[in-house]
Amino acid sequence: MFSFFRKKSIPVASGLSFPFDTDIHSHILPGIDDGSPDIETSLALVRGLYSLGIRKSVATPHIIADMYRNTPETINAALLLLQEAVAKEGIDMEITAAAEYMLDDYFMKLVRTEKKLLTIHDNIVLTEQSYATPSGNLNEISFELMSAGYRPIMAHPERYVFYQGRFDEFHHLKDLGFLLQVNLLSLTGYWGKGVTKAARYLFDNDLVDFVATDLHHDRHLHALQHPGHLRLFNTVIGEKKFNDFSLL
Ligand SMILES: [Fe+2]
Repeated sequence: MFSFFRKKSIPVASGLSFPFDTDIHSHILPGIDDGSPDIETSLALVRGLYSLGIRKSVATPHIIADMYRNTPETINAALLLLQEAVAKEGIDMEITAAAEYMLDDYFMKLVRTEKKLLTIHDNIVLTEQSYATPSGNLNEISFELMSAGYRPIMAHPERYVFYQGRFDEFHHLKDLGFLLQVNLLSLTGYWGKGVTKAARYLFDNDLVDFVATDLHHDRHLHALQHPGHLRLFNTVIGEKKFNDFSLL
């Protein structure tokens, strides 16, 4: 809806922006995981995303049994808080929420008992593994998840230590039915050379379905805003279409 009070876009110093306008993975909701601790920080992160060209953002707080036992209630309450603050500021960004589910026993319990998991879009669920320890039997997990009607995305496959140097595993994930989501900062060396190499492999082999910020804090934001990094994102992604649900 047109609003006379809509604020103008905040230009990035470099004039560069992301080569897409939808972010499907971030931790910008206030106070419910290891992302933004409070509403002021959340607003600053939203302003940063807006300045990079993001107009639709799906916030995805962690749900991890022994760390962040978020529920639709905790997530929706934090979402409402942020939506109200963003509207009050006049920032023209659509913000919704889902979750980033750790593939653990608690998650499988939710798959079996919850009426509906929190989805990014339709039946699409964002999942992750621990960086150091692979989740049990992914064959069984993906089979059960898809039998329940969901389509899983594996968040940042390039970051898992156990896939370093074992890139055949990425093809296996696709064979199991996982959509793959790469973190933009993985391309920059932010998490080391091994992660960058894995991210490049995923792009070079057309294994990537989504790219996202996985934004947690202002250090991520500053790295995402770096002109050299923005040029890199645009070069790697180019004209390819990502984050478009109609293409799935
Ligand atoms: Fe995340």
